[in-house]
Amino acid sequence: MTSSGAADTEESITSLKDEALAGLAAASGAEALEQWRVEFLGRKGRLTGVLRNLGSLDESARRSAGAAANRLKGELEAAFDERRTASQRSGTETGPGDSGRSGGRTGAIDVTLPGRRSRTGRLHPSTQMIREMLEAFNEMGFQTVEGNEVELERYNFDMLNLPADHPARDMQDTIWIDRSSRSEGGGVLLRTQTSPMQPRTMEKQDPPVRIVSPGKCFRIEATDATHEWQFHQVEGLAVDEGLSFADLKGTLYEFARRIFGAGRKVRFRCDFFPFVEPGVDMSVDWNGRWVEILGAGMVHPQVLRNVGYDPEKYTGFAFGVGPERVAMLKYGIEDIRHFFSNDLRFLSQF
Ligand code: DAH
Repeated sequence: MTSSGAADTEESITSLKDEALAGLAAASGAEALEQWRVEFLGRKGRLTGVLRNLGSLDESARRSAGAAANRLKGELEAAFDERRTASQRSGTETGPGDSGRSGGRTGAIDVTLPGRRSRTGRLHPSTQMIREMLEAFNEMGFQTVEGNEVELERYNFDMLNLPADHPARDMQDTIWIDRSSRSEGGGVLLRTQTSPMQPRTMEKQDPPVRIVSPGKCFRIEATDATHEWQFHQVEGLAVDEGLSFADLKGTLYEFARRIFGAGRKVRFRCDFFPFVEPGVDMSVDWNGRWVEILGAGMVHPQVLRNVGYDPEKYTGFAFGVGPERVAMLKYGIEDIRHFFSNDLRFLSQF
């Protein structure tokens, strides 16, 4: 055989190498890789074909071409192993159906496969309800202020016309943090209501006042479908010259209309809270049953005096709404304990 035969062989080794490496780069998925291996490295594969033809070359040509072919074999085997390992590592990204047809790199994402839906979080139903309520009040001119969950006895009780020996304190079984503390503010507790934001706000500013204050409250409760030891309230307070009970009713009717729609029936009844006089509660019709959603009333003159307001000049009304109660009515939720059980089957409905 002539030396041009040797040159031909070396040329075909080089082009085989180019073709093989390009093919390997394009092979995606286990099936395509195996096909490639059979085509180039298999017993009847193309490299074996080249090696077989070496016999027709003269000895020196055979030796150099043989060495080149063996080098190529080693290179292709190494490249194949590397490719296979990479493909196995990214195996989760190559769907079972994409081998050999996407023509992309192994591990490339097959855009024709349906995606996996990612779960998006959302706001807690209580938060959603609170925001909706705040928006209704904000649009009526009430400004949002926030307070602390850990509160002083002074603001949670004393300033609200609930002195230490007042029997109405029994209405709110309190979680104390430090009961013994006899500092200026009295003991330290987890607030049982958002009402402390009334004196806290009035202490800081002169009338007119028009605020709403959302937040979490805590009480020692035997829990049942309508009682939880933690719950939210949205407090409201308006103080100005000449405010009357008509303003209170108008505001709360409008609130109910915005949240429940115009058709829903509401009812006011007399109730007692030490920081208002007269006091009322408001209930909403729920399938023929009245469910109480808030307490309200005209701010007690003593509360105004406690913060240095002149009750002869100023009057006001206050209210405290339970957003969980409102959400239960609005969405037909039967048990208040769902709100704090963190069960996704419940939470993801909102
Ligand atoms: N803080 C009262 C409670 O937790 C609710 C309440 C009643 C708030 C009357 C008020 C109010 O502002 O005027 O039971």
